[in-house]
Amino acid sequence: MDRYAVVGNPVAHSKSPLIHAEFAAQTGQELHYEALLAPLDGFAATVAAFRAAGGRGLNVTAPFKLEAFELADRLSPRAEAAGAVNTLAFDGGQAYGDNTDGAGLVRDLTHNLGRQLAGRRVLLLGAGGAARGAILPLLMEGPASLVIANRTESRALELADRFRAGAGDAELRASSFAGLAGSTFDLVINATAASLSAQSPELPPGVYAPGALAYDMMYGKGDTAFMRAARADGAAAVADGLGMLVEQAAESFQLWRGVRPQTTSVLADLRASID
Ligand code: ATR
Repeated sequence: MDRYAVVGNPVAHSKSPLIHAEFAAQTGQELHYEALLAPLDGFAATVAAFRAAGGRGLNVTAPFKLEAFELADRLSPRAEAAGAVNTLAFDGGQAYGDNTDGAGLVRDLTHNLGRQLAGRRVLLLGAGGAARGAILPLLMEGPASLVIANRTESRALELADRFRAGAGDAELRASSFAGLAGSTFDLVINATAASLSAQSPELPPGVYAPGALAYDMMYGKGDTAFMRAARADGAAAVADGLGMLVEQAAESFQLWRGVRPQTTSVLADLRASID
């Protein structure tokens, strides 16, 4: 049976084995998908052993997405833009690296949450790997503007400069959090790691336009700190990143198996399992 896995450290908490088992059952694909713990200094060796045992593909999670980028023989344009790889596909001696995180985010926003991004004002919070992976897929939706804001403004400036050539008609700019005062947005995406420590980025009040959605890439039991703060500041709707998790998995599954799984029931099952 074809073998796949998610590799990370830690990895025991990963929902990916559950998600891919549901995708496989639903599409009638015969495959085995497991969680693979790699030592912090042993990513490449773990991948090599998995490939030697006939492994066909890997999802890569923290802290190995940059190492996976280095390891890949070929990269998709979106992995190249993200500077990180979350999906590896092994074909003969070649390792193909892709990044499905940003596409998963956009698909969750547009399909599951019904938000079209074209012509909208989008605010992206954060300038780490999670933010970087989202920029190209967001720009491809044709927003009116994309503002990248970060606690350390210089990192946001670097990202905005890097992606300016691909911005098309969208206004792409960087900001500090304080510099957002007086601006409003239709969509605010939290790609900072603040929710991991139960914190919310310190935004000036009033960034949410009427009807705005506040989206946290993180998820957990109940609302994240960012979602609570957004509600208190007038966001009309809030969402966590569980849908993004399922959609990025669906993109990976499609890359490996050539079939697009249905995500609605998988997302509902996953939601029920964490609440
Ligand atoms: P990741 O790959 O998960 O994005 P990262 O590269 O370490 O991780 O980036 C973490 C991001 O979360 C950064 O944008 C960081 O802001 P700084 O660049 O100023 O460090 C942001 N971040 C982490 N904790 C935060 C907090 N409490 N408030 C606001 N931003 C925070």
